[in-house]
Amino acid sequence: MIKFLDLKKVNQRYDKAFHEKLEEFMQRGWYILGDEVKLFEENFSNYCHSKHCIGVGNGLDALVLIFKAYIELGKLQKGDEVIVPANTYIASILSILQADLVPVFVEPKLETYNLNPVLIAEKITSKTKAILVVHLYGQLAEMDKIDGIAKQNNLLVIEDAAQSHGAELGVGSKELGVSNAKAYSFYPSKNIGCLGDGGAVITNDDELNKIIRAIRNYGSEKKYVNDFIGINSRLDELQAAFLNVKLPELDADNQKRREIANRYLAEIKNDKIVLPFYDGSKNHVFHLFVIRTEKRDELQEYLSENGIETMIHYPIPPHQQKALKEFGLLSFPITEKIHREVLSLPMSPVLTEEEVSRIINVLNRY
Ligand SMILES: Cc1ncc(COP(=O)(O)O)c(C=O)c1O
Repeated sequence: MIKFLDLKKVNQRYDKAFHEKLEEFMQRGWYILGDEVKLFEENFSNYCHSKHCIGVGNGLDALVLIFKAYIELGKLQKGDEVIVPANTYIASILSILQADLVPVFVEPKLETYNLNPVLIAEKITSKTKAILVVHLYGQLAEMDKIDGIAKQNNLLVIEDAAQSHGAELGVGSKELGVSNAKAYSFYPSKNIGCLGDGGAVITNDDELNKIIRAIRNYGSEKKYVNDFIGINSRLDELQAAFLNVKLPELDADNQKRREIANRYLAEIKNDKIVLPFYDGSKNHVFHLFVIRTEKRDELQEYLSENGIETMIHYPIPPHQQKALKEFGLLSFPITEKIHREVLSLPMSPVLTEEEVSRIINVLNRY
């Protein structure tokens, strides 16, 4: 069986270094917000060319903290509208709701699965105050156009980069570019993942940094002095240690993913399958390699019978989830089509050439 993602194999590459980190951690005896979190915050802000990185508990909290901090700063108010792609993972929507803001869904482009800038403009009202951009499957959205719309309408731009670690906007730029803040998840399956939960916010905004740092830690900058209604969402010290080991390999892993994607794109030849759009640049880190086909469940079954594990990202669009029933009457034909037809092929830096060849052969025989 070719696994969709062999996480054990991904992390076994770091076995020795992880054990050394664990030993140091045990020797130090400092468990919360210690040297490893501090080091990771430095390492990741350097990697992203950003001024600040704040390590937090997970990707959802990274987004929630950005919104809550903007409310504390008076740049957002409860009830303000936030533009968000209709076809994202539910966490993007939950973060808006958890900050008492209102999500306004916008259809993506069928070609890229990312926000369609033309459709954003149509949804802007006097209550719209922010755009939450999601770089779905690891491909950056059209940030230049989105930035233009944001500037014209005085909107904040926040990036959900949970799937796009290391994607580059221009030559050599993994940085924030035009946005105000970027949220990362280090969920184990991400391009760089913890052995547990983890997340981070990056920003160049000094005030935002200060407030998020406080809110992730009970709203307190100074122990037992609470300036904000905070939460407890700190990047775990041991997880930060593992991330410090893995970060130097992120670019090489992303390159490996692009090489596998290039093989899939060049060698899968089957009229029943729509391959993803890729412009060949580093703006895509192929967190997922997502194909589309009309009889998706049939193809998934066929692949499974041939020993190839696949996944669906995602089977139900957020507006049709029971949890979000207040949006249940909305209709998003492109989003609904995507959720009906997408299938994610195995993709990871530890997939072998032979495995990729076998996946291609089996798909071409379908
Ligand atoms: C697009 C997107 N946003 C947010 C999240 C939330 O991240 P986490 O699971 O770390 O909370 C995820 C992943 O899980 C995601 O894929």
